[in-house]
Amino acid sequence: MAKSKRTTLNSLLDSPRVREAARALIDAVAEEASKRSLTLKQFERAVRDVERLRGRPLVYPALLGGTGHGAWVRLADGTQKLDFVSGIGVYGLGHGDPDLLETAVVAAAGDTVFQGHLAPGLEYLRLSKLLLKHAGPRLKHAWLSLSGAIANENALKILFQKHHPADRILAFERGFAGRTLALAEITDRPDNREGLPLRGNVNHVPFYDPADPNSTQKSLEALDTLLRRYPGRFAAMLFELVQGEGGFHTAPPEFFHTLMQHCHGAGIGVWVDEVQTFGRTGELFAFKRLGLEREVDLVTVGKMLQASAVLFTKAYNPKPGLVAGTYAGSSVGMAVGARMIERLEQEGYLGPEGRVAILARRFERRLEALRKRAPRAVGAHSGIGAMQAFVPFDGSAELANAVLQAAYQEGLMLLTAGSNPTKLRMLLPLNTTDEELEAGFTMLEKACRRVAEERELLC
Ligand SMILES: Cc1ncc(COP(=O)(O)O)c(C=O)c1O
Repeated sequence: MAKSKRTTLNSLLDSPRVREAARALIDAVAEEASKRSLTLKQFERAVRDVERLRGRPLVYPALLGGTGHGAWVRLADGTQKLDFVSGIGVYGLGHGDPDLLETAVVAAAGDTVFQGHLAPGLEYLRLSKLLLKHAGPRLKHAWLSLSGAIANENALKILFQKHHPADRILAFERGFAGRTLALAEITDRPDNREGLPLRGNVNHVPFYDPADPNSTQKSLEALDTLLRRYPGRFAAMLFELVQGEGGFHTAPPEFFHTLMQHCHGAGIGVWVDEVQTFGRTGELFAFKRLGLEREVDLVTVGKMLQASAVLFTKAYNPKPGLVAGTYAGSSVGMAVGARMIERLEQEGYLGPEGRVAILARRFERRLEALRKRAPRAVGAHSGIGAMQAFVPFDGSAELANAVLQAAYQEGLMLLTAGSNPTKLRMLLPLNTTDEELEAGFTMLEKACRRVAEERELLC
């Protein structure tokens, strides 16, 4: 059990009686769950039912049940898989973390699950305070919400109100922002907006290309051309500092710095989307890792936080009617999110020599070793911290999916990202151990060799 001093507000977990009771409940649930695993037949039927009810298949039959341990997740049939995707970035400290479960149980016992903006609880205050403390002095306010998409939607409204009558937004090519109607247009993926009525108010600027020495200049020129074409019409530019869904691309700080300064020079807002990067790059906020604190007007967070929020400067505080909504989030999510932030700080995850940085180095060493053994199966690497990806084989969607499925059969959960090339990506739990990494790479290698053998490819 992680024991560390709670720095903000009192936590009920400081009471030994409460902690003990929480522990007892968690243990009882784990014990009962382990006795109630589905048989193979029941499991297969349950997976089919899920797929039928939601109207489309799962990527792989990963129906969870009971607590896992670290990067190992327990399926409802009692078998285990090594989860290197963390529910697309949600399980920041892996599965079944005892301290986070205790935090969750205590928050759940306080009142019924969700809390609203009208009468927020202490969890709301604790999370908002911690987020703002770590975001730096420029960002003064936090508005919590139920998902990354709603945090981004709130950001969008705040930006438009502030820059009224500007009605356009800038974003990067290949970027992803979420799945509301407005965000589907900002996201640079045609299949995400197929059949939707579009407003046509988004322009995309090329992202950094490491192969092109003039990349920054080209993006700057594209930005400038748009600013001249639509004078006074842009409210903001969205910066996804590590493109997640787009394929784990990032850029040197000077690239972002140059474009952000140009945006400010043109009087438009700088909005950073850290829904996927939050906690994963070796700092809580990637914009801090990249030294961009002075440029950021709004930042959105989610996923690993178990809650979502938009943080903004004083100048961007909207008029009262603009952002609201019944739910601010679940008490459990807020409490666990706050605890997660405390732990990342106190347990040495952050900084250039922190656990996330060490994990990244270990991952990269293992990937390099695998490339030496299977040079045709392991192409270009990209990513940062606990966001890691590589191009399998020729980067075709077909082969990437084949390796993904073969890896699942070996016991490893991966996900694809981007297109042309399609990559295999991993959103590793930040506390992934060396043994778990080794087990994962053994499974990955077997999967690559199996795909090569089945298709008579060289590995
Ligand atoms: C960069 C980015 N922004 C926004 C979102 C949307 O978050 P949510 O799925 O919680 O709505 C995601 C989700 O993958 C994301 O990666």
